[in-house]
Amino acid sequence: MEFKDKLAVVTGASRGIGRAIGDALTRRGAMVIENDILDFNGKKCKIGASGEDFYRFDVSRSQDTKKAFEKILKKHGRIDFLVNNAGITRDCLLLRMKDEDWERVIEVNLKGTFNCTRAVLGSMIKNRYGKIVNICSVVGLTGNPGQANYAASKAGIIGFTKAVAREVASRNININAVAPGFIETEMTYKLSPAVRQQLKKQIPLGRFGKSEDVAEVVCFLLSEAADYITGQVIQINGGMYM
Ligand SMILES: NC(=O)c1ccc[n+]([C@@H]2O[C@H](COP(=O)([O-])OP(=O)(O)OC[C@H]3O[C@@H](n4cnc5c(N)ncnc54)[C@H](O)[C@@H]3O)[C@@H](O)[C@H]2O)c1
Repeated sequence: MEFKDKLAVVTGASRGIGRAIGDALTRRGAMVIENDILDFNGKKCKIGASGEDFYRFDVSRSQDTKKAFEKILKKHGRIDFLVNNAGITRDCLLLRMKDEDWERVIEVNLKGTFNCTRAVLGSMIKNRYGKIVNICSVVGLTGNPGQANYAASKAGIIGFTKAVAREVASRNININAVAPGFIETEMTYKLSPAVRQQLKKQIPLGRFGKSEDVAEVVCFLLSEAADYITGQVIQINGGMYM
């Protein structure tokens, strides 16, 4: 897989899965524009400031997202790949879930995916070329207690992916989703050792995944080898859900 001359935007790319995707694309020769609300050292940054290859904006904010993509398109002329990776959890049993826990997770995960996709789609349609990969989750397929907001946002991304795939297939644009299981990142470091042990028992391959396990599948979906794949959800979960 070679991505020379391809321009990719990856959201939530400061750490974890997003960072691994950015690195994997860069290694294959793509020019990668990374987005996050955090710097690479994990500090909060002033929203709206933009570095050379790094654009700080909150994907849940429509206007900031629109402006950032306009800037990228003005500077580079086109965007070939978009990876909607930025995501958060705010876990809580439903009866105790606050409005803001529900709204923030839907806003970042689902609306953020909508905002970025909408911002890039016009130029992809014009170019008659584009590949989009959305990061959803096994939890969007199976549900998980304490994650009604997160599961709803990720299931929403699956419906969104399929609807948009049908809208833009005739313009040579592919849009797919990947559904990781439990991956070793800051998101899962929060789990207690007892919960981790319990979860590992449900994974036939016997381990949590690595960010690179996800990044490799994303690269495949962005490559020519996946030209005939659209509207699909590829699972990367060590067999925990089949
Ligand atoms: N780690 C897992 O087990 C796992 C499993 C399934 C799916 N996922 C999904 O993979 C994606 C990456 O998760 P991760 O595990 O690397 O998490 P992470 O918390 O390590 O990284 C997420 C990144 O997104 C950024 N981000 C958060 N809100 C943002 C916003 N509003 N705008 C821009 N950037 C924002 C964060 O600053 C962070 O750098 C998420 O969508 C997550 O839901 C993760």
